[in-house]
Amino acid sequence: MEPDITRPLLDWYAQNRRILPFRTESTPYRVWVSEIMLQQTRVNAVLPYYERFVQELPDIAALAACSEERLHKLWEGLGYYSRVRNLQKAAQIVMQQYGGHLPADYDALLALPGIGAYTAGAIGSICFGLAVPAVDGNVLRVFSRLYCDARDITLASVKKEMTARVLRMQPPERAGDYNQALMELGALICIPNGAPLCSQCPLCSQCRARAAGLEQTLPAKPKPAPKTVESYTVLCILNEDKNRVLLQKRPAKGLLAGLWQPYLLEGTLSGEEVRTRFEAAGIPLHSIRPMPDARHVFSHRIWEMTGFLCIASLPVPPQGFVLADADELRRVYTLPNAFRVFRRELKMLL
Ligand code: ADE
Repeated sequence: MEPDITRPLLDWYAQNRRILPFRTESTPYRVWVSEIMLQQTRVNAVLPYYERFVQELPDIAALAACSEERLHKLWEGLGYYSRVRNLQKAAQIVMQQYGGHLPADYDALLALPGIGAYTAGAIGSICFGLAVPAVDGNVLRVFSRLYCDARDITLASVKKEMTARVLRMQPPERAGDYNQALMELGALICIPNGAPLCSQCPLCSQCRARAAGLEQTLPAKPKPAPKTVESYTVLCILNEDKNRVLLQKRPAKGLLAGLWQPYLLEGTLSGEEVRTRFEAAGIPLHSIRPMPDARHVFSHRIWEMTGFLCIASLPVPPQGFVLADADELRRVYTLPNAFRVFRRELKMLL
């Protein structure tokens, strides 16, 4: 027999839903921003960023007009910066094509940059009452356990079938609540990594994975993609007064596009080799000392970084470089999390 989860799920959600800022005031703009932030980040980590973001950029017009530096700064620490770049691109399109209001149409939402099937479904169902699915990792986990389905949930064909199951039990007049209830169940009860809280689950008696004792085994984890390891030498170069650091803007396209970084050299250099580079560039180097090593794991690569703190007589920085003081480092220039070790040291040093 097919599971029938609608009633117990909605009742559970009515009793257990978290009070969240984008739920108490769920305008399309606020829900949109929250869903983009929540894509790779947990609710608790998102909340302070969310409040600051919607306070400073309260509507789509403000987002569309925000400077790149400010936008990055509002996102600093959340990572996956292409999310906020696409968010702004979409806001600019919404200003031009829809008079500043998100369209209440699934396909029109889907056509906007950064809005995929999940986000279009979340905005469409939560804000506009459209009877569309919103299937994220939480929902896939719940359904792979409910049906004791051991297939790989990262495959498009499996996702499609799961989505059809999700939609079959969706009450069209309560699509937003149903979609959020599934996400909430996945976030609070049917959790990943470790034992789910089955004794508190409203779907426990219908869960086939639970009946088979496989609730901790499912969903099946696909083999992680191999990552390439890249080595860099990170030079935190201060001026003689030790109140400014040299920062470099990354290229406008590619990894960490448009963000700022300390001076970066490819490969692992020794202190002597760094000295030689300064000499070759004709820049007087007054002192050099090692900084802590750092490692950053991206989705497809790993950076292994060797750091040095250098004090030098710096010329006027060329195009694409700045000498930032402590205040500018805090308020203006965004250093991605890959450099968090150096960012922290610099904030203490300047
Ligand atoms: N994760 C992403 N979006 C969510 C939402 N609307 N409710 C709960 N968890 C979420």
